[in-house]
Amino acid sequence: MMKARFMSEVLVGRRVGRCALASVLMSATLMLGIVGAGGTAHAASAAAVSPEALEKGASLFVKNCIMCHERGMEHPGTAALSYLYGKGKGALADRDNLTPDFVRYFVRNGRGLMPAFRIGELNDEELKVLAEYLSAGPHPATPAK
Ligand code: HEC
Repeated sequence: MMKARFMSEVLVGRRVGRCALASVLMSATLMLGIVGAGGTAHAASAAAVSPEALEKGASLFVKNCIMCHERGMEHPGTAALSYLYGKGKGALADRDNLTPDFVRYFVRNGRGLMPAFRIGELNDEELKVLAEYLSAGPHPATPAK
């Protein structure tokens, strides 16, 4: 389920990048599916997250992730995701389609340049709060700390 969702995001990213007319109908169908699923999860989690939890999530993000995922192509995470999803779409804080499961999967498993975070580095409770924060995006500006 998780894997399938990830794969379709990757597929959509590549497809949109090429934007061949012949594949527009296919892409649209795929995207509707993703936006539908993501939108529901997003609405549900956003409603449940308190302002305190969002603040805690933001500070966990700054502490653990921002060195690679800050806005700007000099950050390797943002650069890699801009390449994948398109210019201006690389910063995690600007995303409106992240879900807690998706974030958790990447944080625990890592990928490419991104390290996996073990429980000793970011425990389950912290990861939950962090994943909910990112899923409640887009966030207008990254907090200073
Ligand atoms: C050392 C740099 C680095 C750190 C630290 C890092 N990341 Fe990443 N992250 C990356 C890179 C590079 C990618 C792209 C990986 C790829 O697809 O090859 C990535 C991808 C991701 C993705 C996948 C996004 C998508 O839509 O494909 C998520 C989610 C993510 N990171 C979340 C986080 C979170 C949350 C943290 C902090 C706990 C974090 N990352 C810390 C470098 C980093």
